[in-house]
Amino acid sequence: MKTVRTLISKQEVSSRIDQLAEQINQDYKGKVLHLICILKGSVFFTTELAKRLTIPVTMDFMSCSSYGSGTVSKGIVRLIKDLDEPIEGRDVLLIEDIIDSGNTLAYLMKVLRARKPASLSLCTLLDKPSRRVHFEVEVDYCGFQIEDLFVVGCGMDFDQRYRNLPYVGVLEETGGEASES
Ligand code: IMP
Ligand code: MG
Repeated sequence: MKTVRTLISKQEVSSRIDQLAEQINQDYKGKVLHLICILKGSVFFTTELAKRLTIPVTMDFMSCSSYGSGTVSKGIVRLIKDLDEPIEGRDVLLIEDIIDSGNTLAYLMKVLRARKPASLSLCTLLDKPSRRVHFEVEVDYCGFQIEDLFVVGCGMDFDQRYRNLPYVGVLEETGGEASES
């Protein structure tokens, strides 16, 4: 059976998103910020962040996947859903749930940069720096750095489950009944 151990509480996540939003509000003062949410994992973080932004924002969504399933990303990234709108000349903030190898972001940043936005920054709720393979991926706004653990909640899944947990948890194998707190 799998159980979920709390790693970062709902309150800690919420306070940290407050801080990130405050920083972003300052950094983009006087500008319109175009948020790009990477489906599906960053939906929860993107909406929480967006609700705290007081600068004008617009939003778009894209989806990509690494080939393969399970807990390890395979390295080849495929674009499943592209943006609805062009980003040329816009101030863009790409929002991710978690950066692991950096594979997904290295690919996406390259694709988006080629479309000539006025600026392109990266915001992630979680970062696992010890797992990085693509060191060219620079994170502008990071919620929390974590160790090499497989986490769920706040949008992150294991086999599409657990995304709705309001905290960040670590999946652990136990012998007993399933529990999620
Ligand atoms: P990367 O391409 O190796 O950086 O992996 C990034 C993607 O892998 C994230 O957007 C997540 O979808 C997924 N991922 C990486 N680590 C975790 C984790 O600990 N839990 C859930 N998903 C993860
Ligand atoms: Mg993801």
